[in-house]
Amino acid sequence: DKARFTLDPAFTIGQVNPRLFGSFVEHLGRCVYTGIFEPDHPAADEAGLRTDVLELVRELGVTAVRYPGGNFVSGYKWEDSVGPAEERPRRLDLAWRSTESNRFGLSEYIAFLKKIGPQAEPMMAVNLGTRGVAEALELQEYANHPAGTALSEQRIAHGDKDPFGIRMWCLGNEMDGPWQTGHKTAEEYGRVAAETARAMRQIDPSVELVACGSSSQSMPTFAEWEATVLAETYDLVDYVSLHAYYEPQDGDLDSFLASAVDMESFIENVVATCDHIGARLKSKKKINLSFDEWNVWYISGWHAIENSADRDWAEAPRLLEDNYSVMDAVVFGSLLIALLRHADRVTVACLAQLVNVIAPIMTEPGGPAWRQTTFFPFAQASRYGRGQVLDVRVDSPTHETKKYGETDLLHATAVRAEDGSVTVFAVNRSRTEALPLEVALNRLELTSVVEHSVLADADPDARNTLAEPDRVAPRTVQGATLRDGTLSAVLEPLSWNVIRLA
Ligand code: AHR
Repeated sequence: DKARFTLDPAFTIGQVNPRLFGSFVEHLGRCVYTGIFEPDHPAADEAGLRTDVLELVRELGVTAVRYPGGNFVSGYKWEDSVGPAEERPRRLDLAWRSTESNRFGLSEYIAFLKKIGPQAEPMMAVNLGTRGVAEALELQEYANHPAGTALSEQRIAHGDKDPFGIRMWCLGNEMDGPWQTGHKTAEEYGRVAAETARAMRQIDPSVELVACGSSSQSMPTFAEWEATVLAETYDLVDYVSLHAYYEPQDGDLDSFLASAVDMESFIENVVATCDHIGARLKSKKKINLSFDEWNVWYISGWHAIENSADRDWAEAPRLLEDNYSVMDAVVFGSLLIALLRHADRVTVACLAQLVNVIAPIMTEPGGPAWRQTTFFPFAQASRYGRGQVLDVRVDSPTHETKKYGETDLLHATAVRAEDGSVTVFAVNRSRTEALPLEVALNRLELTSVVEHSVLADADPDARNTLAEPDRVAPRTVQGATLRDGTLSAVLEPLSWNVIRLA
């Protein structure tokens, strides 16, 4: 049985926004400390940033970097994180029961982005958990106002003459979640988000604002939350956020492999909710989606240790350091495909997170940095997934999954670059069978297969570790052909595939 689809340049979904390849740095575990920042590491630069990590971040192709949380932001006092580092206060971080030294702060975050390169862009969250409108405005003034006011002059006195130019701002984090410090009802949050947005636009009407949507599609308040929040904020914000994490449940690997079915329905349901509110308000404006936390996360492992007393108030503890397998990377690739397939409305997305914490990059304090299996699909999608997403409607063999019923074995998308070259991203969800693929290429003027890269392994549980950091990597395979306008390839069982055509 073959899987098939047709590509035609006349049938497109939309242009990929580079912000789709964003990531996330939270003050959580070792994401910041001994992750991106470790002043006494042999590879640290004059600012204390690990240059080995910076190199991997560049290779990963990260664009927007969300900061400083996450749950952390709901207790964040931005003013603790600026000024002379040795004078900054140590604080309790309630979100992760850790101690925050504030040694790394706002200025260091901006310096980190600059060192990644011009593709990197800030995406700053304000605290709407324990704080509100006034503190958001103060942070915005400190960060973005050029000079001549108390807070802008303070920034200059702290050594940052140039304003940070932060355009994208998240209005709080996961305010629908009972675990969030300062958790609110949709009505309460909608009001504070609207007032914060209105005030931030008084400083600068061109800021881009993200209202908190749901922490997952399975939240009991899902959809009603978005509708209520958007009824208050529709004219004041640009995006609504989505968060989703996936892990196998009860050993059900086929449903795990089909996680993108949930992700796509989540996106489509949020689009429908946004457009419903837009219709109610008779508005021409469209709200876009910021999928600003997504990943595979073995979250039940975290819940099992979440409340153990022995991890109380440690500094930069090892938390959420999931080690990803080949199977995880295939699911992860499928999540990337889901985002690309909705690039018309998902215009920002952040892989949660960047280093050590459910991350594509791992480090050892004082030691090396290496790529997890999930590093590769992200780096390839960021590199080759730029341009117009073509409308891919697959005709695929299916199998039954417990969670999602009859599910396509093939999950795919294709992106056409400005130079006319096309990259097909495809996942074979079958754990046992290879999947022959045939793609009809209408009017695309493609003549050759440049490369067919595969991430798959005889052992789907294979991982990269400190001891064996290069165990898993994509490999180039032969056999894909392009003849008479048809691409033919075979997708190995449980595989992530990148087929480049020119
Ligand atoms: O990314 C880890 C955590 O997951 C974030 O802090 C929070 O927003 C989400 O629940």
